[in-house]
Amino acid sequence: MRILALLVLLQLAGGTSSAVLFQGFNWDSCNKAGGWYNSLRNGIPDLAAAGITNIWLPPPSQSAAPQGYLPGRLYDLNASKYGNQGELKSLVDAFHGAGIKSVADIVINHRTAERKDNRGIWCIFEGGTLDDRLDWGPSYICRDDTEYSDGTGNLDTGEDFKGAPDIDHQNLRVQNELSDWMNWLKSEIGFAGWRFDFVRGYSPSITKIYMDKTSPEFAVGEKWDPMSYQPDGKLEFNQDAHRQALANWIDAAGGGTLTAFDFTTKGILQAALGGGELWRLKDSKGMPPGLIGIKPEGAVTFIDNHDTYSQNLWPFPSDKVMQGYVYILTHPGTPSIFYDHFFDWGLKEPLSALIAIRKRNGINERSSVRIAAADPDLYVAEIDGKIMMKIGPRYDVGSLVPADYRVSANGQDYCVWEKK
Ligand SMILES: *[C@@H]1O[C@H](CO)[C@@H](O)[C@H](O)[C@H]1NC(C)=O
Repeated sequence: MRILALLVLLQLAGGTSSAVLFQGFNWDSCNKAGGWYNSLRNGIPDLAAAGITNIWLPPPSQSAAPQGYLPGRLYDLNASKYGNQGELKSLVDAFHGAGIKSVADIVINHRTAERKDNRGIWCIFEGGTLDDRLDWGPSYICRDDTEYSDGTGNLDTGEDFKGAPDIDHQNLRVQNELSDWMNWLKSEIGFAGWRFDFVRGYSPSITKIYMDKTSPEFAVGEKWDPMSYQPDGKLEFNQDAHRQALANWIDAAGGGTLTAFDFTTKGILQAALGGGELWRLKDSKGMPPGLIGIKPEGAVTFIDNHDTYSQNLWPFPSDKVMQGYVYILTHPGTPSIFYDHFFDWGLKEPLSALIAIRKRNGINERSSVRIAAADPDLYVAEIDGKIMMKIGPRYDVGSLVPADYRVSANGQDYCVWEKK
């Protein structure tokens, strides 16, 4: 009883968990014959067995682009290229039955219109319901939207998105109707959390409004800022400003359950592994150099996703992917796994083994890291005094790993030990 009460208290106090997020799609998933939702259902037993706790699904609404990122009729989940509302609901139900929470991809910076008005301008929006929910006109669009200048709403609070009209989130009806829609995704479909698309498009105080009005169990924002590079094209060593911007965004957007994708860790990790520069993995204070080094409870770590890999925008070096996963699956933060790596690259077994080590040792988003080596060809760290890991081509770790550690998992250029 007492232990149970303590666990509940820890949860309420923002306690730790060994959550692992899975990105359940790639850029081509919308083209899957028979529908993506139906196809993904077949993977549920493997994902549950691997210890996945949260699944990020693609944007569910009718969209001008098949991948879902140019949504229009938000309530219309039947016109999605991934499948219809019934198929989505049974997929979410099946995940729920397997103990996995579904995370909806929330694309609310911009929205595509249903029809042109009598001036020939695309500015008549429809929600996809029989009533007038989300039926909007030009007054709901930012008046400084550069491609859709008929907008008459407030000024945009963030960056302009070129591909579609930017929504005026300072409009109270916009706030209320979008929150109602998100709460409908929770109650009607069974979503438990959100992945906020392109949060650079509006101010963090806007994200906070939707967080407060929808109380998700899990939420992560995509704040993809450019990193700093030297004139010769090499990544700068110090990325403190980059990660601090992520931490500041989380704080301003409400903190609590909100997290952000740790783009800093992704960029440094791939430069370190790709260039034989593993010294990059220790910052000037001796800590991990990404968001996990300053705000691990707010960091969702990843190697690649539907943009960086599928669209070849910023891919992780393909021969170093397992080493990347060894790093994120042993370190603090909430690690995430990309669909392709698990199902298409044949990495299901080694990834599952790493997740099992993480869970067995209670490694969680707040775990502590002691970096034992960060040389060009070798990185060694101890996490929570329970496990040790090494990545890099140097085989001999010398006396860095004490005798009471035993090898638990190993592969090309990596090894993970657990304390006996
Ligand atoms: C989508 O289909 C479901 C039945 O599967 C129905 O309840 C719902 O109203 C439909 N939505 C729209 C926008 O047509």
